[in-house]
Amino acid sequence: MGKFQLFPDQASNFAPEVDHLLYFLLAVTVFFTLLIFGAIFYFAIRYRRRSEKELPHVVHGGYTLEILWSVIPFGLTMVMFTWGASLFFNLSRPPDNAMQIYAVGKQWMWKLEHQEGVREINELHVPVGRPVRITMASEDVIHSFFVPAFRTKQDVVPGRYTTTWFTPTKTGKYHLFCAEYCGTNHSGMIGWVHVMEPREYEAWLGGGSSEGSLAENGKLLFEQLACANCHKEDNSGRCPTLVGLFGKDVKLASGATVKADEGYIRESIMDPQAKVVAGYEPVMPTFTGLVNEDQLVQLIEYVKSIGPKQGTTPQPTGAPLPNRTASPSAPPAAGAAPAVPHPPAKK
Ligand code: CUA
Repeated sequence: MGKFQLFPDQASNFAPEVDHLLYFLLAVTVFFTLLIFGAIFYFAIRYRRRSEKELPHVVHGGYTLEILWSVIPFGLTMVMFTWGASLFFNLSRPPDNAMQIYAVGKQWMWKLEHQEGVREINELHVPVGRPVRITMASEDVIHSFFVPAFRTKQDVVPGRYTTTWFTPTKTGKYHLFCAEYCGTNHSGMIGWVHVMEPREYEAWLGGGSSEGSLAENGKLLFEQLACANCHKEDNSGRCPTLVGLFGKDVKLASGATVKADEGYIRESIMDPQAKVVAGYEPVMPTFTGLVNEDQLVQLIEYVKSIGPKQGTTPQPTGAPLPNRTASPSAPPAAGAAPAVPHPPAKK
């Protein structure tokens, strides 16, 4: 047994930030608990009834007091709110240069996959000091991806993608839990995150058995499923071309505009009628039941790989975040790679 630890290790950029907020909440709570209980005991003694005949004075309100006990708690709760909200925004917005990992939860294991095609079960290897974005799906019920040492927890929901991110700041081995009751062996749905030195990580990745990168497998699948018959590269097909699509705004037949991110592409494969592109007929059949979560990920990575500006370096994944700079927080994470400048706004 290791030494008793009140808090888990602080092993990500978020860990100290989340802990500071927690310390603040604890301090406020402890302070007011002591103040209130102290006042109860003090007043009980100080103003106790001293004789049978004693009648208390009638007390009228005091404005100063009432204003004070309204304004001070209001101020404190607003501090908690803005602090918590800014942290939450930060936690919900992976930086554009984050490394992409896919996670699939199923009863009762975690399947993790690197862009290079290396797969892991209940284990995740990541390099230290680099933001990691995890895009998650479930094959059955709701799970929750929870790494206490990183202070990140995110539900994994069937039928859609959710994401979380972190920058590991300390090498080591950290517990990965499922934090949502998901059936009999929920408590056994446990894994490890191994945070490695970048060079070790590269070596590990190179030594892993890979059956081709996600994008390569996605390309094969794209051909096998005959997607290319309609989604032609030169955009002469019955369906829009997918070249250069990822991350762009798409005009829909309904007049609305959507960002072509993972969630949109996933939906367009599973439920093609949900968002029909303007100028096209809703002719695409659904692929629900024909492709599984792993294959969806491959198809999406393929679409990303033929997206704009795709090179050998990890590319921005997910929709660009228009209001990113307006985020109230986002101090540079300890050990994080320098932020990539935001792409110029369109229009
Ligand atoms: Cu999966 Cu609990």
